Amino acid sequence: MSRFIITGTDTEIGKTVFSAALMLGLESAGASPHYWKPVQSGVTEGIDTHTVKSLTKFDKERFLAESYVFSESLSPHRAAELDEKTIDINHLQNDMPEVSGSLIIEGAGGLMVPLTRENLYINLFKKWDIPVILCARTGLGTINHTLLSLEALWSRKIPVHGIAFVGERNADNVKTIGQFSGTKILGTLPLIEDLNRENLKEAFDVHFDIEDFIPQDMAMAS
Ligand SMILES: Nc1ncnc2c1ncn2[C@@H]1O[C@H](COP(=O)(O)OP(=O)(O)OP(=O)(O)O)[C@@H](O)[C@H]1O
Ligand SMILES: [Mg+2]
Repeated sequence: MSRFIITGTDTEIGKTVFSAALMLGLESAGASPHYWKPVQSGVTEGIDTHTVKSLTKFDKERFLAESYVFSESLSPHRAAELDEKTIDINHLQNDMPEVSGSLIIEGAGGLMVPLTRENLYINLFKKWDIPVILCARTGLGTINHTLLSLEALWSRKIPVHGIAFVGERNADNVKTIGQFSGTKILGTLPLIEDLNRENLKEAFDVHFDIEDFIPQDMAMAS
């Protein structure tokens, strides 16, 4: 079954909303999606696991408990310090849940977000060695941010599954990033005025191809 890391070119890109959309798509394909946000900073601003739960309406069994939850909405290394805790990278590396079905793991912020004073999130992605989906904006600035993020992934030989854009349609930005990177463009999730399960599922079905996210043998069977 599929396992993906959902990261982004920045914080607030739409990783959580895209994760929920992908779960809805995977569910239709019979891939029993599970969601895990290992490190959550900023409880008062809302917990991503709760957002995905309310957008998908899946049972609680589909949601793995966070390994670390911090009070302040800051980079995990700093949020941990303020809560007088330390993130243990080895613990996170070994804490990857075994699920029967597919697994969506959402990072925090972007790739170069520190988890500790020694380790960036991207170091953990390298240790996990599972494919990364890079969420990116569609608007001005995204070509630079997306190509820089891809370079960071390539230079560490981290498998890149593709790019999922979130935002208003911008055909030239998407095409330009595809041309310069040669990376698979998975689709663009449009901005949805009334974000709910039905609208998100419909948007995913229209703008993405679920076969890009499930193993070949499953795609042929469905
Ligand atoms: N397709 C969309 N349509 C409408 N609103 C969206 C969409 N995608 C994201 N948003 C909104 O944009 C904001 C940021 O989205 P989201 O929480 O998914 O970002 P994120 O990358 O997961 O952020 P973080 O780095 O904090 O985890 C939220 O308010 C969310 O509701
Ligand atoms: Mg999020």
